[in-house]
Amino acid sequence: MEKLIIQGPSSLAGNVFVGGFKNAAVAVLPATIIQAGVYNLENIPDITDIDCIETIFTKKGMEWKHHSNNTVTIDTRALATHDFTDDEMSNIRASIYFAGALLSRFGKAVVALPGGCNFGERPIDLHIKGFEALGAVVRQEYGKLFVEAPNGLKGASIYLDTVSVGATVNIMLAAVRATGSTTIENAAKEPHIVDLANFLNNMGAKIRGAGTDVIKITGVSELKGHTSYTIIQDMIEAGTFMIAAAATRGNVFIRNVIPKHMESLTAKLEEMGVGIDTGDDYIHVFPKEWPLGRAVIKTMPYPGFPTDLHPQMATLLTQAQGDSTIKETVWLTRFQYANELNRMGANIDVNCPVAVIHGGEGLTGAPVSASDLRAGAALVIAGLCAQGTTAISGVKYIDRGYENLVDKFKHLGADIERVDD
Ligand code: UD1
Repeated sequence: MEKLIIQGPSSLAGNVFVGGFKNAAVAVLPATIIQAGVYNLENIPDITDIDCIETIFTKKGMEWKHHSNNTVTIDTRALATHDFTDDEMSNIRASIYFAGALLSRFGKAVVALPGGCNFGERPIDLHIKGFEALGAVVRQEYGKLFVEAPNGLKGASIYLDTVSVGATVNIMLAAVRATGSTTIENAAKEPHIVDLANFLNNMGAKIRGAGTDVIKITGVSELKGHTSYTIIQDMIEAGTFMIAAAATRGNVFIRNVIPKHMESLTAKLEEMGVGIDTGDDYIHVFPKEWPLGRAVIKTMPYPGFPTDLHPQMATLLTQAQGDSTIKETVWLTRFQYANELNRMGANIDVNCPVAVIHGGEGLTGAPVSASDLRAGAALVIAGLCAQGTTAISGVKYIDRGYENLVDKFKHLGADIERVDD
């Protein structure tokens, strides 16, 4: 079993380059199977969630070639089955996107129910509601989702009761080749929704309104099967480095970012007294006031404060003065990190869906365990702030979504190693 060993404290300094967005890549990759073709995709992050998708593709006979600089070429022409029930499907959340993509290509899909980070119930009722509205018949049994459109897919007007990234993606994938027009109301507005729409439009789809809460899709009978596309930068990786810089009183240039995507975090950090300068494609985080002030945070769908930066922010707030609160409105029980931070000397009270972080407590290194991807990132930041040695197990969760995490933090001056236990 691998562990991350961190000797703290350290103050991060230097430049870090952000990679391609996991949540965009895991939507764009399944989209390539809608139309048989050869796709050249740049900025694909080197993370295990992508390895998992590669395994699923290659098991189905589709070619997947790696080039330098995070570029891959995928040939989806050999795909001849709508049955995606391999074990790997249950390792990641985004495998549910194969349902929409296969439905689009073959008019039917059988997929294993998805896995992914476990921070409470992760329903798929809105995905199903979307498929049914488009004319599909859906049943769920034996851990599989069976979806079939016996009379073809027909455009429809779909209102999402809750803003859901996953349901918005799946409906877009299923609707691009449906007959007629589809409208998704109360759609997710996340940057990866816009990225997927741009990719599909490059393929010849007709999607308007991505990035707003009303997305209109005019179905087309055929898409272009030869497309090149560059995935956008990972706003959650960028946010993790911004928070790590702030928590260690560091001086860090986070490069290769889209600063617009970071506005909710930037505003909170500035409010706490962190120095931030923003350029076209970089964010400079530097010490301004110390100690940092408290904050009141409520996670929300984009453009609100991202739930995927909640655990990392909780670590930062242990370093601030006074009592801060984080109210979670997306994943109501996403607080598994709190016990681990408390083992390191933090003082966090959780009463779901709210955590009260009593700041100003010095952290000390301890053996801790990552329960999911972002909880793991929170523990890494805590290890950088703490006196002494922190040993983090559960590294496989961190590897799901952070490319070269150890090297990137080392480059910023952290004392961090990956060891085989
Ligand atoms: C995506 C992200 C994940 C992030 C989350 C919220 C990917 C691969 N993952 O997950 O990192 O934390 O968005 O920003 O992009 N819901 C329903 N019914 C459904 C689907 C969702 O009620 O059918 C609810 C969920 O319980 C949750 C909320 O909608 O409360 C948002 O979930 P959703 O946006 O769908 O998250 P994911 O797409 O799974």
